[in-house]
Amino acid sequence: KLLPIEERADYLRYPEEFEIARENMEICEKIGSGMFGFVNTGYLSMADPKSQIEYKTRLPVAIKSTKKSFDMELQTMLFEELKIMCAIEKHPNVISLIGAVTTNMRKGEFYLVTEYADNGDLLNYLRKHRETFHNTLIDMEEPVVNENYSVPSQQIEYTRLLPSSDILSTADLLSFALQIANGMEFLAAVPCVHRDLAARNVLITSSKICRIADFGLAKRYTDKNYYRIKNGKQVNLPVRWMAPESVQTYKFTEKNDVWSYGITLYEIFTLGNRPYAQVPNEQLEEFLRSGMRNEQPEYCHDDLYALMKNCWHKSPDVRPNFNTCVHYLKAHLKECA
Ligand code: ADE
Repeated sequence: KLLPIEERADYLRYPEEFEIARENMEICEKIGSGMFGFVNTGYLSMADPKSQIEYKTRLPVAIKSTKKSFDMELQTMLFEELKIMCAIEKHPNVISLIGAVTTNMRKGEFYLVTEYADNGDLLNYLRKHRETFHNTLIDMEEPVVNENYSVPSQQIEYTRLLPSSDILSTADLLSFALQIANGMEFLAAVPCVHRDLAARNVLITSSKICRIADFGLAKRYTDKNYYRIKNGKQVNLPVRWMAPESVQTYKFTEKNDVWSYGITLYEIFTLGNRPYAQVPNEQLEEFLRSGMRNEQPEYCHDDLYALMKNCWHKSPDVRPNFNTCVHYLKAHLKECA
C-alpha cells in the first residue's frame, strides 16, 4: 500500500516548469497570517499565447510566503508543500497551484502561488450570510404561515430555483457538502491525508465553488518540530476537528479526515457555529468518550445528520470513506434540499 503523499515529500521533485519570474508577479495586500506564513493577494502578468500582438493579462492569485524570510525550517516546510501541490493533479474542488518563485530562496525570496478564491474562506463566508440565509428546508416542510397570509407553495418552489446569487439557501449548503466530499474523495485517492479539514480551510469562489486548501501542509501535526508546547501542553492542535484516536496517537488516515468532514458539515449547517461550543477543551475527550456528539443543526435534514453521526463513529472502520459520502449525498440530495 502506498504511503500518503505528505510522507513521501522528501522524494518528490520540484519541476522547473512551475517557476514564475519574480518580475511577472505583483504582491498586494496581506489577507492571511497563519502559524507558519502569510498569504497575500496579488497578480500574475501573463503573455496571452493566443494573441498576435503583445498583450498581457493580469491574473489574480494568492501568494504564500514564510513568516520569517530566512528561517530554513519554514522554507523547507513551504517547499514540501510546493512539491506536494506540484504532484497533485487539478480538481475543481481542490485549490490548485499556479507556480512558485524559488530561484532566490537563499536570499529569503520564496513564494508559492495558487489560484485565488474571491469569496475567501468558507467559515467567514457562512457567518457573513447568517442574516440573509434562506432556509428552504423549513419552507418545504411547513410553509411560513402568518395570520393573514400564507406563502403560496408555487412561490416556495420559485425561491428554490433562484440562480446562484448572493443569497445563501439550504440547497447551497448541501452543494458545499457534496463539493467538499468530492474534493476529499479525490485527495484520498492520491493518497493524501489532509489532517486539518475544517470550514476555515475550505475556500469559496464568487460562483460558490468550494476548493479545499492547505492539504500540502499535511505533515505539520505529526512532526515534533512543527508543534508548539505551552505550559507543558500541546496547543494549536485542532482538537475539535480531530477524531479522538488521532488526538491520542497523532496517526492520521482517511478515516480521521472523515471525522473532520463530519465536523465541517456541522459548521456548514449551523452557518459557522463553533463545534461543541458549550464544552471546554479539557472536557472534550470525556464528552466524546461518553458517546456524546454535536447536536443536529437547525438547517440540517435527518438523513444528513445520520451521515454526520456515521462520520463520528468511535470506531474508524465503521465510518464511511469519502467515496461512500459522495454516493450517500448524491442519493439524498433531493430530500435534503
Ligand atoms: N489562502 C487564503 N485565502 C485565500 C484565497 N482567498 N484564495 C486562495 N488562497 C487563499
